[in-house]
Amino acid sequence: MSFEIVVLAAGKGTRMRSAKPKVLHEIAGKAILQHIVDNVSGLNPIATHVVIGHGAEQVRQSIIGDHIVWVEQREQLGTGHAVMQALPHLNADTVLVVLGDTPLLTTNTLQQLLAEANSNTLALLTVESADPTGLGRIVRNTDGSVARIVEHKDASSAELKINETNTGIMAIPRHLLETCLPKLSSANAQGEYYLTDLIEMATQHGLTVVTSKASSETEVQGINNRIQLANLERAYQRQQADLAMTAGATLADPARFDVRGNLSVGQDVFIDVNVVFNGQCSIGNNVKIGPNCVFFDAIIADGAEILANTVVEDATIGTNATVGPFARIRPGTQLGEGSKVGNFVETKKAIVGVGSKINHLSYVGDAELGDGVNIGAGTITCNYDGVNKHKTQLGKGVFIGSNSTLVAPLIVADGGFVAAGSTITGDVSEDQLAVGRAKQRNIDGWKRPTKKDK
Ligand code: UD1
Ligand code: CA
Repeated sequence: MSFEIVVLAAGKGTRMRSAKPKVLHEIAGKAILQHIVDNVSGLNPIATHVVIGHGAEQVRQSIIGDHIVWVEQREQLGTGHAVMQALPHLNADTVLVVLGDTPLLTTNTLQQLLAEANSNTLALLTVESADPTGLGRIVRNTDGSVARIVEHKDASSAELKINETNTGIMAIPRHLLETCLPKLSSANAQGEYYLTDLIEMATQHGLTVVTSKASSETEVQGINNRIQLANLERAYQRQQADLAMTAGATLADPARFDVRGNLSVGQDVFIDVNVVFNGQCSIGNNVKIGPNCVFFDAIIADGAEILANTVVEDATIGTNATVGPFARIRPGTQLGEGSKVGNFVETKKAIVGVGSKINHLSYVGDAELGDGVNIGAGTITCNYDGVNKHKTQLGKGVFIGSNSTLVAPLIVADGGFVAAGSTITGDVSEDQLAVGRAKQRNIDGWKRPTKKDK
């Protein structure tokens, strides 16, 4: 049985009170609609039709995915009307309709729903809602079969008491859509063409409506306002925290742990409070991360320790290396095994050798440091001449005294030693001492200034 997907994402999302289309608001740093497009791609459909309307161009530009067919719904006349716009593009036997505002929906749930549908059967995903306010209610016959869906605004007081609700997700035989969508009426409380009216029509056409229940309310929760957005963000982050803990990380507080991307963690990892992982991050075994650290595309090897308030971006932290507190590790940094980067140090495109130390208050950029290098406090690599970037190369065991400026391009060969307070503009050979500062003068008999008489 072939199937295609239709994602409904044309609505304005009035309740968000935003200039931005609702489906572009983000969960874990990724657009709501992108979550859905990514999740359905796991089903390998022939095509994913995305119905857009409000902010169509912006939505189209923002979302990426394979086999997306963009369908425009010029006026948002309801969910039934939205599916109707996609109808001329559909060829498969079964059409899986997914709402564009339910980002936590899993591929697994959709797979099970699809398995239930066939040319005589419409499969509907329902859920028990603790608070069904605003949702469509599943009205059942006395024999338990589904009679119809009634929208909240159209429901009688008896129907409002039903807790089984419509998730909006259904697998529908295409022939039913062709026969019935053109017959939908907008004579209801919202003056819209409801997709939900299709359920009653299906039974009238002799089709069977089967239901399956979603695993949790959270999985099928739609986002209509910013409170629901925040609630789902927390639910998503709790799932990420559970994954990390299952993999072997102890979290000081699972409620203060955020993953905006993908994180892989090893065993016996400790992560303190308020740590944020962005992009693709990976953490080895026995890693310790202090509070308030932020990572973007970071690789942290076994046994490394990241102390409080450190930011690491697009960098690799070697085995047993120590970083922070208050360090900023910028793109292209590779810290070697057992190396140490301390407080108020910024690195960028810096390759740091085994056991090398940059302990305090330095800027090391466009630099290559051999093994066992020691950089004193206040060292600056002057890598930029206002036009071009230049490289600093420090050999094995090089010692840079405090408060030195290393004017690149510059090579200090193995064992080279730079005296504190130097400005080094020329290369230093192996084991040489370089002193690049004014000679100290001591003046005898010098008198301090005295206060002038008025
Ligand atoms: C809908 C269902 C309701 C269900 C609930 C689950 C209908 C009539 N109601 O209500 O039974 O319980 O979802 O969350 O189907 N959209 C369009 N074009 C339109 C209207 C909507 O593309 O003309 C899109 C929206 O962008 C949104 C989705 O369809 O992503 C759902 O629309 P929304 O207005 O949020 O429906 P609900 O009122 O939540
Ligand atoms: Ca909704």
